[in-house]
Amino acid sequence: MPVHERIVILTGAGLSAESGLSTFRDKDGIWSRHRIEDVATPEAFSRDPERVLEFYNTRRKSAAGVKPNAAHVALAKLEQEHPGEVLTVTQNIDPLHEMAGARNLIHMHGEILKKLCAYCGAKEPWEDDLSTELVCRTCNKAGGMRPDVVWFGEMPYQMEEIALALGACDLFISIGTSGTVYPAAGFVMEARNAGAHTVELNLEPSEGATLFAKAIHGKATEIVPAFVDELL
Ligand code: OAD
Repeated sequence: MPVHERIVILTGAGLSAESGLSTFRDKDGIWSRHRIEDVATPEAFSRDPERVLEFYNTRRKSAAGVKPNAAHVALAKLEQEHPGEVLTVTQNIDPLHEMAGARNLIHMHGEILKKLCAYCGAKEPWEDDLSTELVCRTCNKAGGMRPDVVWFGEMPYQMEEIALALGACDLFISIGTSGTVYPAAGFVMEARNAGAHTVELNLEPSEGATLFAKAIHGKATEIVPAFVDELL
């Protein structure tokens, strides 16, 4: 494989599946047990904040104690050892990329281990449950504390930075994502328009599988380290 100068990696829930975290759209995934409109929209938070906070409290608890797997470790090694630039853009709200050592990382859908005040926008690291009684330390109002995660209908984070990286990359790799949620699902087209080589690494062909120049199917802990070895 030629040396690529600028690599953008997009990751999704399939990357963390073998660390023990549920995916969303697999048979027993999170969206088979909950309706998006009940727990993952700003309207749901206005209507029934306790329910929304409880959903994310459960997810925060399930993320406690999980460890990065061989795929996260391989991607962090790629960032550290590749002579070119490597940017990882993750849709995952878990901290497994950074725990594995990734530094050039964008959490486009936010982070479960941070809280965000809906009133004043203050953000802070947060590992405990959130409740409607919690008072913001910045604006002193109660009732607005929410997880710092992007809900359906909200704009993902750092989109300008991501667009610039996609427009300049020569290799785009999509890992463990079903390719159903935009804008992330459209990144492959942005990378293709920039002339990049595009590769999908996933358990099965994603929704957008035909948009990639190359696809490798299998478990992330097996195919990602092998692909990284090939790149290095
Ligand atoms: P999905 O659950 O939609 O897709 C996960 C993908 O990972 C599927 O295509 C699986 O086949 C694949 N997969 C499962 N186990 C795997 C393994 N061990 N190795 C490799 N691949 C595996 O999750 P996402 O695409 O990440 O957003 O979902 C995107 C967004 O939708 C999430 O960030 C979240 C969700 O609703 C918000 O909540 C805003």
